[in-house]
Amino acid sequence: MRLLVTGGAGFIGSEFVRSTLSEHAADQVTVLDKLTYAGNLANLESVAGDTRFQFIQGDIADPAVVERALRGCDAVVNFAAETHVDRSILEPDAFVKTDVVGTWTLAEAARAARVQRFVQVSTDEVYGAVLSGASVETDRLDPTSPYSASKAGGELLVMAAVKTYGLPALVVRGANAYGPYQYPEKLIPLHITNAIDDQPLPVYGDGQQRRQWTHVADFATGIDAVLRNGVIGEIYNVGNPEPEDSLLVNLDVSRRILSLLGKSETLLQHVVDRPAHDRRYRVDASKLVALGWKPRWTFADGLEQTVRWYAEHQEWWRSIKSGETHQTYYARNYADRSAFAR
Ligand code: NAD
Ligand code: TYD
Repeated sequence: MRLLVTGGAGFIGSEFVRSTLSEHAADQVTVLDKLTYAGNLANLESVAGDTRFQFIQGDIADPAVVERALRGCDAVVNFAAETHVDRSILEPDAFVKTDVVGTWTLAEAARAARVQRFVQVSTDEVYGAVLSGASVETDRLDPTSPYSASKAGGELLVMAAVKTYGLPALVVRGANAYGPYQYPEKLIPLHITNAIDDQPLPVYGDGQQRRQWTHVADFATGIDAVLRNGVIGEIYNVGNPEPEDSLLVNLDVSRRILSLLGKSETLLQHVVDRPAHDRRYRVDASKLVALGWKPRWTFADGLEQTVRWYAEHQEWWRSIKSGETHQTYYARNYADRSAFAR
């Protein structure tokens, strides 16, 4: 298969590219990535010399660029997106441009190029907060943030293209991913790297929110299962099926990180909550399990591995955190939050 992977220089996309090239010897991969603040060619260093791999820098919202990138490709996996909820609250426009307009531009170009499969990577956040039970794919969408609303817009357009034009597309709704190479603005890598530097760990509100932490390697095999075995026009949830108590509430995730690093809980800092903060997400991934998906990581083992990876790859995240882009964002997002909220 010749694959176009958009957003392949980001966190989950790069994991997917590395695992595809190592697991599927006959596949070729072209990555199309704009290299926004979150895109990083260092994430693709291990495959850069592979003759089956090609990189194109460009925007999925640019029709000429996507037309060129799609030439000769059989399938597309669209990871490209603006992905951070806090940034979507500060600057929503970029989310609409990439996650809605970009997704539509790519879907239209894929239709013209007659690809055989188009996988749209979406998020469980499109369901909105789920206070009990687990979302199934037929549940109504009720997104809360500009991020989740833009992702909902993108996947609805893709599904409309399936129905209207016969685009051979599938949608995957993923739970929160964690693991190596995650940009250090999301909870787990931010708290690990702050803890290593003895900096405060900002905990939004009471810290009792729940996420369905799913190791990035399991997330990537879930996408692979949908790409190769999924039924066109179907939607698949991907999320760690472990019992909820093993996945911990945010505050306990941060405590576990401090304990793994031998740091004091005095670094925990309750700060003013995120507006419209969803309390809980959980998906039922049985439909994906029925396709043959077998997640391998427990959260306990995965968190330990992730903490170790950040401790051993400080050059990777220090070059990001010391940069002006990250520092400007950090000051803007956290400066007004420092009042204790409890
Ligand atoms: P990320 O922020 O680490 O990477 C996003 C990548 O997309 C970057 O390489 C960036 O340069 C690229 N990009 C952004 N705008 C682009 C554009 N206009 N054109 C081309 N490339 C562009 O994201 P991630 O965490 O790896 O998420 C990947 C996908 O998975 C996203 O679609 C996201 O919505 C979805 N998702 C993520 C999570 C999670 O927990 N990280 C959970 C569920 C779903
Ligand atoms: P995040 O990693 O931003 O993912 P998402 O908002 O897409 O779920 O946040 C995960 C959880 O951690 C979420 O409940 C918000 C919370 N959080 C904090 O408490 N402090 C922080 O500094 C960040 C970034 C997140």
